[in-house]
Amino acid sequence: MASFKDSIREISENQDSNLVLALDIIDEDRMRLSSRALQILEQVSPYICALKLNRPLILKLCIETGIKDILKRAHDLGLATIMDAKLNDIAYTNLATANQYFNAGFDALTASPFVGWEGGLDSLFREASKRGKGILLLVHMSHKGATDGYGQDVFDKLTGERRQQFIVFAEKAISWGADGAIIGATHPEKIAKALAILKGKVPIYSPGIVAQGGSPREAIRAGADYLIAGRAIYDSSDPEEAARSIRDEAISALGTS
Ligand code: XMP
Repeated sequence: MASFKDSIREISENQDSNLVLALDIIDEDRMRLSSRALQILEQVSPYICALKLNRPLILKLCIETGIKDILKRAHDLGLATIMDAKLNDIAYTNLATANQYFNAGFDALTASPFVGWEGGLDSLFREASKRGKGILLLVHMSHKGATDGYGQDVFDKLTGERRQQFIVFAEKAISWGADGAIIGATHPEKIAKALAILKGKVPIYSPGIVAQGGSPREAIRAGADYLIAGRAIYDSSDPEEAARSIRDEAISALGTS
């Protein structure tokens, strides 16, 4: 059974794109929301390697009714699917939640490392590995306030050393067997620092481009393997062109990094 890490790399090569579409559109009308989601997906599918959904869409469309159809279409288009669940609970609840996402057809989920391993993320990683699904671990988030948690320094009781929290999380991404480490494009210097640990082991996914001020080019040059973009694509008057342009910028940055 191929790991998520390997299957998304293959998809990315086939699609000639390392761009993940974050489809966080909202609409009070469920039918209109569903058809707009499918329309944007179709339009941008030649320029992306994966579709990432988040709770705004899931809450409105519901897993059993609207979401399964969108996931099926994404898979038919040859794309990977990611649920940005940011799981952050006790193991029992994480597992029960994750299984619903996996059963619906998601290939990977995001999770927060702050909850820890034993009795926290352990069940999730084991289940994902059993089912050939992926877990992408938050290593440093993209928003300004992320510095309050991910950006803090911590004290290592074993060595007495003062360490950067996100570096500890990058190490956990490897030791826990994550399929990806998420680091905001708004912190390219942190991508570069984490890359020294993660390179060749865990790919870096970088959200926060354009709408949050991060530069696709800088994120790729710093070491991001995949870029995640939402508003810059679906809020554009021409989502297809917006996706193509970000994809092209990422490819050209890869060529010069
Ligand atoms: P925009 O519209 O800002 O959407 O391009 C970005 C998408 O990614 C999510 N997001 C994150 N997810 N770690 C994550 O796991 C992060 O640091 C992070 N920053 C943004 C956001 O919820 C949206 O779906």
